[in-house]
Amino acid sequence: MSTDALVANGVCRGYGRQSVLDGFSLRLGPSSFEALMGPSGSGKSTFLHIAAGLLAAGSGEVLVGGENVTAMSDSAAAKFRRRHVGVVFQAFNLLSEKTVAENILMPLALEGRAGAPESRARLASLASRLGLEPLLSKRPEQLSGGEQQRVAIARALVAEPDVVLADEPTGNLDAQSAKSICALLKELNASEKSAILVVTHDPVVAATASRVHFLKDGRIAASHATEGDPELVSRLYLECYR
Ligand SMILES: Nc1ncnc2c1ncn2[C@@H]1O[C@H](COP(=O)(O)OP(=O)(O)O)[C@@H](O)[C@H]1O
Ligand SMILES: [Mg+2]
Repeated sequence: MSTDALVANGVCRGYGRQSVLDGFSLRLGPSSFEALMGPSGSGKSTFLHIAAGLLAAGSGEVLVGGENVTAMSDSAAAKFRRRHVGVVFQAFNLLSEKTVAENILMPLALEGRAGAPESRARLASLASRLGLEPLLSKRPEQLSGGEQQRVAIARALVAEPDVVLADEPTGNLDAQSAKSICALLKELNASEKSAILVVTHDPVVAATASRVHFLKDGRIAASHATEGDPELVSRLYLECYR
């Protein structure tokens, strides 16, 4: 049996006296594609930051590919993240002074591997599948929002991580670009080994994933198969939060 991509066990985290996560547990199997929903302020980004090793948990643990990221020092977490976790943000977070190719290769460049033949081959393969070939020498500011997010997704996948964590990846995009990002995530989930956890407000985005989890009162209150049906996801959402 292969190792789960991500396991959260009883994660608690607050800010000052405010409790945000309170016994948050979640399990993502290898190569799974699941969605996390919850109202604004419910702690979705807090969880993704903890899982990426960018924020400390108060208690509890998160394992990525069997490794306990919550027990790592900041520098160990940064190193671990480059190989094992891909992160996609709503605001793309590309480096403006770098080309598209350099942005995609960044996790490998930080390990001195950007120039290796297998890294160049990986870049070529991702660029072709994400429709980025004509854009490789451009700068992020020359790209549309949808194109920038495709670059961020390629960067998240380049090191073949255990899991890609996407925080409202379509939140800054028009409906058409959002739709194409969803189709792309689904396609990449089928062809890549990485599991994907997407945080979203949008039932259409959540329905692209196979399961959806609802975050309420600091923990997962309900989990369901999406059946690819946005209307089902909307109904389940209303049931959970009414
Ligand atoms: N750095 C921070 N300092 C203080 N409070 C924070 C910080 N980050 C988030 N919060 C608070 O924690 C709660 C959860 O935030 P967040 O995880 O961003 O929620 P979501 O992503 O679901 O909208 C909110 O009430 C937010 O104001
Ligand atoms: Mg958020």
